[in-house]
Amino acid sequence: MRQEQEHWTHMDVLEAVRMRRSIRKYSDLPVEWDKVGTVIDAGRLAPSAGNLQSWRFVVVEAAGRRKELAEACMNQFWMESAPVHILIVMMMKKVKDFYGRRSEFYAAQDAAMAAQNMMLAAHSIGLGSCFVSAFDEESIIEMFRLPEGEGARPFGIVTIGYPAEAPQEPIKYRLENVVFLGKWGGQNAARMRDFDNILWNFRVAERAIKLGENIVRAVEVHTRQGRKSFIDRLRQRTSELKTRIEESGKKKAP
Ligand SMILES: Cc1cc2nc3c(=O)[nH]c(=O)nc-3n(C[C@H](O)[C@H](O)[C@H](O)COP(=O)(O)O)c2cc1C
Repeated sequence: MRQEQEHWTHMDVLEAVRMRRSIRKYSDLPVEWDKVGTVIDAGRLAPSAGNLQSWRFVVVEAAGRRKELAEACMNQFWMESAPVHILIVMMMKKVKDFYGRRSEFYAAQDAAMAAQNMMLAAHSIGLGSCFVSAFDEESIIEMFRLPEGEGARPFGIVTIGYPAEAPQEPIKYRLENVVFLGKWGGQNAARMRDFDNILWNFRVAERAIKLGENIVRAVEVHTRQGRKSFIDRLRQRTSELKTRIEESGKKKAP
């Protein structure tokens, strides 16, 4: 339990951002309710336009309902293997009252922020997730009797469960292909060419340092009394390692 809690609270945000993958194959282990709660709570805490929190979440566990949802999502039957579906609903009316024409934009942005928060939270506690937004809107409105008077519109579904696959990272653009400096296109893009490379060196060093720090922390927990000098030595070694890795990172960077 103690170890689990540490795992829950210690995963680095950047690590979750980097390691999260869309999972479309789940084990049949049920997801504990406190974990489902943790995921939804991360959604609740997302930023939203004017703090209107225009989202609502419907948690779907019943196998029959999940099957129906998979059908409404253009027969994406892999969804059925996820023990929990979280339907994200946008409450358009309130946003419209505040923001008029821009409301569609804002409500979708709010819901997307909540979805990403939930997926990162799921990953950080050992769950897999996938965002699904290929669906037939009318079917979902009907299925859940969403109150159209309040402008309730389905935004997407986050599936969660224990992963039964470990997909490779799909090909993602390199930074220099998607970032410009100060203005659109032109010379600036070329100046970014080595950015990924520099970042990569930095990340290797950063991960190694983190590993060292985690080892020290684990030793501290298990030998809290009477082993101080051992820990001091380990600290010293970690700090030397950190310096060496940083030095070599600097050397490799172009
Ligand atoms: C707006 C949006 C809609 C998506 N809809 C679906 C979907 O209907 N079905 C699905 O299997 N994956 C869906 N995905 C997941 C993407 O396919 C996935 O994020 C992408 O391939 C990159 O993989 P990664 O999430 O592992 O980085 C969707 C993702 C987004 C952001």
